[in-house]
Amino acid sequence: MEMVFYFYSTCCFLVIFSKASTATDTISPSESLTDGMTLVSNDGTLALGFFSPGASKNRYLAIWYNNIPMQTVVWVANRINPINDSTGLLKIESSGKLVLQVQNTTAFWSSNTTVSVENPVLQLLDSGNLVVRDERDSNPENYLWQSFDYPSDTLLPGMKIGVDLRTGLGRRLSAWKNWDDPSPGDLTFGVDLEGNPETVIWKGSEKYIRSGLWNGNDFSGYPNLRWNTIFDDDFIWNENEVYFIQYLKNKSVLSRGVLNQTDSARERYTWNTGTQTWQLFGSMPIDNCDKYSLCGPNGYCDSNTFPACHCLTGFKPKWPERWNTYDYSGGCIQSKPLNCQKGDEFIRIRRVKTPEAIHTWVNKTMNLKECRTTCLKNCSCMAYANLDVTRGGRGCVIWFGDLIDIKQFESDDGQDLYIRVSASELMKKAKVKLGIILATVIPALSGFALVLWYVGRSRRKLKVEVEDKNVNDKENKDENEDMELAVFEFGTIAQATDNFSFHKKLGEGGFGPVYKGTLANGQEIAVKRLSKSSGQGVNEFKNEVKLVAKLQHRNLVRLLGCCIHGDERMLVYEYMPNRSLDSFVFDQTKNKVLTWSKRFRIICGIARGLLYLHQDSRLRIIHRDLKASNVLLDSEMNPKISDFGMARTFGGDQTEANTNRVVGTYGYMAPEYASDGLFSVKSDVFSFGILLLEVISGMKNRGFYHANESGNLIEHAWRLWKEGKPLDIVDGFLVETSDLSELLQCIHISLLCVQQHPEERPSMSSVVVMLVSHNELPSPKQPGFLFCKKPFEADCSSGDYGSSSRNEISLSLEAR
Ligand SMILES: *[C@@H]1O[C@H](CO)[C@@H](O)[C@H](O)[C@H]1NC(C)=O
Ligand SMILES: *[C@@H]1O[C@H](CO)[C@@H](O)[C@H](O)[C@H]1NC(C)=O
Ligand SMILES: *[C@@H]1O[C@H](CO)[C@@H](O)[C@H](O)[C@H]1NC(C)=O
Ligand SMILES: *[C@@H]1O[C@H](CO)[C@@H](O)[C@H](O)[C@H]1NC(C)=O
Ligand SMILES: *[C@@H]1O[C@H](CO)[C@@H](O)[C@H](O)[C@H]1NC(C)=O
Ligand SMILES: *[C@@H]1O[C@H](CO)[C@@H](O)[C@H](O)[C@H]1NC(C)=O
Ligand SMILES: *[C@@H]1O[C@H](CO)[C@@H](O)[C@H](O)[C@H]1NC(C)=O
Repeated sequence: MEMVFYFYSTCCFLVIFSKASTATDTISPSESLTDGMTLVSNDGTLALGFFSPGASKNRYLAIWYNNIPMQTVVWVANRINPINDSTGLLKIESSGKLVLQVQNTTAFWSSNTTVSVENPVLQLLDSGNLVVRDERDSNPENYLWQSFDYPSDTLLPGMKIGVDLRTGLGRRLSAWKNWDDPSPGDLTFGVDLEGNPETVIWKGSEKYIRSGLWNGNDFSGYPNLRWNTIFDDDFIWNENEVYFIQYLKNKSVLSRGVLNQTDSARERYTWNTGTQTWQLFGSMPIDNCDKYSLCGPNGYCDSNTFPACHCLTGFKPKWPERWNTYDYSGGCIQSKPLNCQKGDEFIRIRRVKTPEAIHTWVNKTMNLKECRTTCLKNCSCMAYANLDVTRGGRGCVIWFGDLIDIKQFESDDGQDLYIRVSASELMKKAKVKLGIILATVIPALSGFALVLWYVGRSRRKLKVEVEDKNVNDKENKDENEDMELAVFEFGTIAQATDNFSFHKKLGEGGFGPVYKGTLANGQEIAVKRLSKSSGQGVNEFKNEVKLVAKLQHRNLVRLLGCCIHGDERMLVYEYMPNRSLDSFVFDQTKNKVLTWSKRFRIICGIARGLLYLHQDSRLRIIHRDLKASNVLLDSEMNPKISDFGMARTFGGDQTEANTNRVVGTYGYMAPEYASDGLFSVKSDVFSFGILLLEVISGMKNRGFYHANESGNLIEHAWRLWKEGKPLDIVDGFLVETSDLSELLQCIHISLLCVQQHPEERPSMSSVVVMLVSHNELPSPKQPGFLFCKKPFEADCSSGDYGSSSRNEISLSLEAR
């Protein structure tokens, strides 16, 4: 109904305006604009005239896009004073004041021009800014009045949102009440000046979504548009003004931000000339964790876990009973009082939206070390961070009192925040870590020869069996020795992904966002935009990618090529229509699709793919980030491991057995890897064990929640195993339809894979054999426990650590 009317009214506009258009962009005091006439900007992009929104019959003076077939209003003058007939008339008085009136009597709306000039003229600029200026003023940007100072719901490029501190003029967006009524709704967007400025969306007078502080690149809480090719963001903060502004990178693209009352969101649209529609490019909120202070004071929100709210390290829920029933309003309180005199320490939290910055202090030149010292000196300072993260980090912000509204990101969005903890808290952690190091490193060293012997022996012994199993694996061997690597043009990739638009985003991996794309020939692809430059040269990168592209196996995702653009690197893969394993296993409805026999086939496929990486390929790849979301499913639900070779191609500094850059995901990492950067094929085996448990149980190791038990999935499985009821862990509906002996065998294998000591874990070739044979298996020993409930702790974080965990250990030891 609405649509019908809407098209009808659009048609009428076109008809009336094409007849009556004045085809000029200025009005002088002797002229006026009446209902039915339009003022068109010089390049024809925008027009000023009268319109009726939606189903309403009211008339409003407004600016809209002139050259597109879809009525899109960007500014309304008389939002709260609609005209009820078509006698509206806009004129500019000789003083320069704009007056909108009806039947030359009532002024419905007028501009607040205070200065008067001799030769005022009204002009609609190509930017969409309606300005009054002195025709003879030598500076054409000396506006007496401009519509950009009084925004409606739309943010146009070049528009400032914020406050002019000299005049007190505040510029905010406010949403339309609804489609038929442009009067202001309760959703507004502007700059919050309290404390350190940042942008905020308000609902009425309540904060609804904070952006986090501007860190020189973007707002720490709204990072997902960083990669876009359409516009640049900037945030200016000086003694004269504070404002947020966007610039178009390509002036011929139509792009607008809009505050949408219906969706309670700030949205960004770009005009698609092909489909002749507005395409959603991005929106805020992205998830629930964006909502202001969802987890209460000193809590943090991670949408990748369930439940999403956690207390910061050193804090505990204020009201535990309520917290356990998902009422987080009380937030968290210190678990042990800080003892300022005895000396406190700081714990780094990575990848967060910085907390609300009302009670803060800043210094724009201090470095991080001075910042830390400053914070340490003042007992009420609770946290500090860099003000600007560009060029290695500059400036200092310190927070006093409760830390409010922290969101944790999975990949390298957000920024680092350092939180004060008592020295005893840190000592506790240091002890735990030292225990782990002693427990893993020493046996690992003494067992080193044993490992070599074991690996060598088992490979020789099992080779024959394994090759038998793989007789039908046609693609198993390295084929296409001379295969040329496809290098895609940036333009091709940008076009295939609609300029990396938000709605093409498939997800966000440890190495950067992944977009779906369609090449001109119709082929569907997945494009991974690597998020941080490894500093590799173009040729090194190409060679590395070429090597990885040669790894071909039916259980590995096929790498089609790469794209290099400036210092950006992208990898192009075949597209997997069924997305990833986690989207089935952990989904309460989709999990029914995966019967036990399908799951078993998937498990065997993953094991074979991993075996190929470890042994049969010439490269001997250790995956280092095997997890459910890295196992993709093709149209026939065949599993394909993705992101293999990433650590190698993109991991930076590493040696055979040790790395300074721990990559991986909390919940899947082997203890010796997470705590000491020691990796081997056995750390992959550990991750495989976890994955196996997750596929069997339908529960995530990370974010595991059980009503009357603490700990994680492994501990749970181990407990049940020892209690002699291992099958209790199986996803309920599987039990009825499964081969129970096969299930039991898989649980047994998974527990062997997650054993504490790497040398005790089976190799992948053994695992492949164990899966299909029904031989007696050794009893599993104690699994590796390196699991804390708080991913912020140095050894339990998710995703990419980015730096040495060794350093953090030495830091903890220093605290003693
Ligand atoms: C339109 O508005 C004017 C003044 O606001 C009022 O006098 C008039 O009755 C209205 N006409 C209709 C048809 O509502
Ligand atoms: C508007 O003003 C003009 C002259 O200023 C006058 O001739 C005309 O009658 C007025 N119209 C109405 C509807 O009052
Ligand atoms: C004029 O100024 C007043 C207060 O200074 C403000 O509320 C109003 O929105 C302004 N109107 C326009 C059209 O600029
Ligand atoms: C700008 O956008 C237009 C239309 O989308 C496109 O044709 C043109 O190639 C782009 N220019 C640049 C420099 O990217
Ligand atoms: C707001 O969102 C609704 C629903 O998604 C959409 O129909 C409407 O066009 C949007 N409004 C604006 C102003 O973009
Ligand atoms: C900011 O830090 C710099 C460098 O440490 C120092 O010289 C300066 O005095 C500080 N400014 C303020 C206002 O504290
Ligand atoms: C700590 O900082 C607060 C807030 O800036 C200030 O009021 C207080 O005086 C400071 N205390 C010390 C000991 O410097």
